[in-house]
Formats: sequence, C-alpha cells, structure tokens
Amino acid sequence: MHIQKKGLIVYDSVYGSTVEVAYWIKNIIGMDQCLDVKPLTQVITVAPYDYVIIGSATRMEKPLKGIYAFVETHRQRLARKQVCYFLLCGDCDETMVLNVPGKPPHLIAGRNYLQDIQKKYPEIRPVVIGAFGGRQVMPRLQKKEALTLWLLEKLAKEGTPWKGLDIWESLIAERVELFANEVREKVLGAPPNTEIERFRSCWQSLQPGSLTDSAKKKYTPKPCFAHEEMAKQYFTRSRIHGDLELGIQLLKQWATACGLELKEQSRTFFNIYYHAVKSYSGRSLTIHIVAATLPEDPGNLHVSFRCYAKKAVRGGAQIDIAAAEEILWADGRKAEPAPAR
Ligand SMILES: Cc1cc2nc3c(=O)[nH]c(=O)nc-3n(C[C@H](O)[C@H](O)[C@H](O)COP(=O)(O)O)c2cc1C
Repeated sequence: MHIQKKGLIVYDSVYGSTVEVAYWIKNIIGMDQCLDVKPLTQVITVAPYDYVIIGSATRMEKPLKGIYAFVETHRQRLARKQVCYFLLCGDCDETMVLNVPGKPPHLIAGRNYLQDIQKKYPEIRPVVIGAFGGRQVMPRLQKKEALTLWLLEKLAKEGTPWKGLDIWESLIAERVELFANEVREKVLGAPPNTEIERFRSCWQSLQPGSLTDSAKKKYTPKPCFAHEEMAKQYFTRSRIHGDLELGIQLLKQWATACGLELKEQSRTFFNIYYHAVKSYSGRSLTIHIVAATLPEDPGNLHVSFRCYAKKAVRGGAQIDIAAAEEILWADGRKAEPAPAR
C-alpha cells in the first residue's frame, strides 16, 4: 500500500505576502496531499511530519529572526527530515552585489539570503530552496520600517525600483511554480503539476501600483542587459546561452588573457562570485563579477560586473570588462531579448 508523506509548510511573515505564497505552494503541491500550512506561532512540534517547508519574508538580507529561532528549537528533528526553504524578498536577481558603508561589498538577493541559515545549521540540508521576490505596500509599512527603506533609497547606487509606488511587486510567478513542482518531484516522487496557471490567483490582485498614476505598474521585470556609468561605480549586466561551468571557463580564459587575478569569493549550485584584481597605472582595482543561473530562465547565464571606483581611475577596468563581455558573447552566445512585438 502507498503511504502518503505528511508535510508542513511553516511560515513567518510581517505583512502577509508570505502567507499568500504558502497557500499558493500548497495548491500546486496538491490538495490531495496531506500538507498542513501554519504560521510558526501555531507549531509546537515537527514530529508528525515527514517533510517541512520553511517560508519567510526577508529582513536585512536574511530570513526573519523567528525562523532562526524555529530552526534552532527543532534543529535535531529537522536534521532527520526532508526540509525545503523559501523566501519572499524584494530582489531576487542573484547577480547582485551590494556596496554600502559599514560592510564590505557582498552578494545579496534571492537565494543568496538563504546561505546564512544553511551555514548556521549545516546538519539541515535542504532538498529544495527558492526565493521568489515579493511585495511591499508602502503606505502600510510600520514607521521604523518605512524609515529604513527611505534610508536605503538614499544609499542605493543603482536606484530603488519601488520609488514613487504605493504597491511594489517583484515576485516572479514561475519561481514559485518551479519550487512547488521541485518539491513534488524530489520530496513526493510525483510528476510536475501542469495545471497551475489558475493558482496565480493566490497572488494576483486588482489593486494598482499607484493610486495617483494609473500608468505605473506594480511589477516591471529587470532588464537582462544593463550598462551604467555612475560617478563612483561602473556596472554592466548581460546574459549568455550556457551554464555556470561554461561561464567559469570563459571568465578564467579572460582573466589569463587580460592579466587579472581571479579570486573566488563564494560558490553555490546557482552562482559564483569572483573578485578580479589588477593594477591599473599603479592603482590596484577590484572588479566584482557574479555569474548566476536563474530558475525562470533555463539554459542561460546572467553575468554582472561592478567596479567601485571613480571615473577618472577606472578606465582600464572598463576596457577589461568590455573584453570580458566580448569573450562571453562570442560564437553566438549573447542571449539578447526577443524584440518587442
Ligand atoms: C524594513 C524592510 C526590510 C526589508 N529587507 C529586505 C532585504 O534585506 N532584502 C530583500 O530582498 N527584501 C527585503 N524586504 C522586502 C520584503 O522581504 C518583502 O516585501 C516581502 O514580500 C515581505 O513579506 P511579508 O509580506 O510576508 O512580510 C524588506 C522589507 C522591509 C519592509
């Protein structure tokens, strides 16, 4: 007789968007499945479950503190179960590096925010991880949180996409669907659920992005290609046909050809972060490079370059970045978006 696995989706949320996604995931995994959905304040034990899906909103580049406390409390039991993590967040572009005062430049966004909890509890090895983007309803933010975001807006070098919006969304629906279907496959051994479009209604709402300007959209997808020359930062981003292995090989080839020392900072199954260091006219500069595969864009690799130096001194680095892109884009690998119809 087939014994059905028992599952729990446990979540923590501040404003409720994580709750909507928890039920969306339950719908895709299947209403025929034995799967509880509970806020973490409603969970006293994980003992009855075969698998536990832990979902959270993001605060200051990490899951909420309550999630850490929950994992700490149940760590021994969780280590013996199948565990999955998912995050609602503002940004899920995993090629992002953040450079703000008080911290060295570091990887942010999406699944990068799940690295800390995995390092802290290495005995819990998640079967599936996902980070989907999320929603901010600006007029409803608690005062302190609104202030934090205002400050972030001032510090952000690459701009903040929620500026001027009442509701800002960044969620990529395909990421939620792929996550839930990966759980079906890897935890339940079930085929993907293909009748899933209708469950997007768990998330979609008729409310506009701005009450005063109906032309403003809640969600604008990030462009795959970018090229920005700012006073203290040079930034480019592009997309190639290929996987992470190919990207690594091409970046190594570039570093050797241009005389840069490539220092690996971190590596996961979905991205790699390098510092490429070189002396330009007697001044040592670091180029921050991140290559990432994104779940919603299979078969392509997204690569970002950043150099945090003033225009007057970074000319050599810009030339080297252009050379890197030439190598990455060669042989028809440049994956330009299809022209708008
Ligand atoms: C004060 C504050 C800090 C946040 N910090 C981050 C962050 O560091 N990184 C990120 O990607 N998203 C961040 N977010 C975005 C939220 O994680 C996102 O809006 C999420 O959908 C909220 O989930 P909830 O509605 O379940 O609370 C922040 C939001 C607020 C209000």
